[in-house]
Amino acid sequence: MKAFFRFTLLCVLAVGSRAEDDVVASAVAHAKAHPQGDVPSSFVAADYRADLRDLPIGVFDSGVGGLTVLEAIKAHDRHHNGTGAAGADGVPDFAGERFVYFGDQANMPYGNYSAVGRTGFLRELILRDALFLLGRRQANGVKPPVKAIVIACNTATAYGLEDIRAAVKAWGIPVIVIGVVEAGAQGLAETADGAQGGVAVLATVGTCASNAYPKAIAKVTGRPVRQLGSASLAAAIEGDPSIKTPIRDIIRADVGAFLKSAEADGAAPIDTLMLGCTHYPLVADEIAAAFAYWRGQSDADGRKPYAQLVAPQLKQVNPAAWTAEALWRSLQGAKMMAVTKPTAGDLFFISIPNPNWKGIGLVADGTLAYEYKYGRVEGQVDREDTINVPLTTDRLPGATAGLVRDKLPLTWRSLQAAR
Ligand code: DGL
Repeated sequence: MKAFFRFTLLCVLAVGSRAEDDVVASAVAHAKAHPQGDVPSSFVAADYRADLRDLPIGVFDSGVGGLTVLEAIKAHDRHHNGTGAAGADGVPDFAGERFVYFGDQANMPYGNYSAVGRTGFLRELILRDALFLLGRRQANGVKPPVKAIVIACNTATAYGLEDIRAAVKAWGIPVIVIGVVEAGAQGLAETADGAQGGVAVLATVGTCASNAYPKAIAKVTGRPVRQLGSASLAAAIEGDPSIKTPIRDIIRADVGAFLKSAEADGAAPIDTLMLGCTHYPLVADEIAAAFAYWRGQSDADGRKPYAQLVAPQLKQVNPAAWTAEALWRSLQGAKMMAVTKPTAGDLFFISIPNPNWKGIGLVADGTLAYEYKYGRVEGQVDREDTINVPLTTDRLPGATAGLVRDKLPLTWRSLQAAR
């Protein structure tokens, strides 16, 4: 009987790992079979046999939240540009670089695929994002290939970093791949400044389910970690019209539920917040305000249940700046910084549903219907039920445009120039 269970378990494990390998293997085989880059999810193989240094850097997210990472990269100044020596020199470290940004807005939120059993499809979406950046195809013309891929999405890093690295290796292309999660953990360690308390990781439900942050943090510090997964905050920040609750109320409710369970479990006092979702830096003040609100709340007995659980001053770690540093170190180490000043500006793309795709399910506002979005399975890396078009400021919902304009000035300027 024992042997039977062991056999069944082995079969389950074998099937599980084969299905996982299939997602990468089919993306690798598909792109290899189309070295002219002339079909969806392929790239021009010859592009990667030439000198890559003057190619742009690709950055992608499930939506516009990754613009917070792009902003951090554009603002990054921790080195002397000429010599590479440590220390700011007043010139941003990536001043000589050009960027291609992609937000897979039609398929977001990425954070909810794992909860509905669609992790395999999410991994395929993430590989498609990488292939879009590597390739030249876009819905309204052509785009340049990229020399580096920054996965500016925590959920995509959690589920796709290893896949993209494996695919890049299998294609034999010298493209640099950076994710935000290890960078965030590194930032936590480097900015601890003696802080020993608990770390609350605020992220999507999917990122929390993957345990990517607890694992990455455990590699750099023994501090206790507790996760707060929000199902709707990223989409609300993105301007999802189906979410009617104001952002401030979503945050307050999420933080309230998190603290209630932390207190019930006797969790360690929290002194640091990890902003483990690209969208959250845009509402960092509201997040701090929600923790302060609950810290001051009294229960029916006049007791303040969270006064000891939440430090009066919470430190926030934003992985974005650390991602910028990881990117700089990798490009510098590989001698892949640009040598020629870019003659064109940054490019921005966003996915939209393709109404001509057979069987596509759309709702009245033209977005993918929930059942359609979460009913898809992996196995068709070249599907084009969504297409990637240039992102201009007028494509951003009003509230999102306001946040980007007010909080991400370098990116906003670059987006405006991309009109
Ligand atoms: N950008 C994603 C992240 O950083 C969150 C948004 C989503 O769920 O798609 O995790």
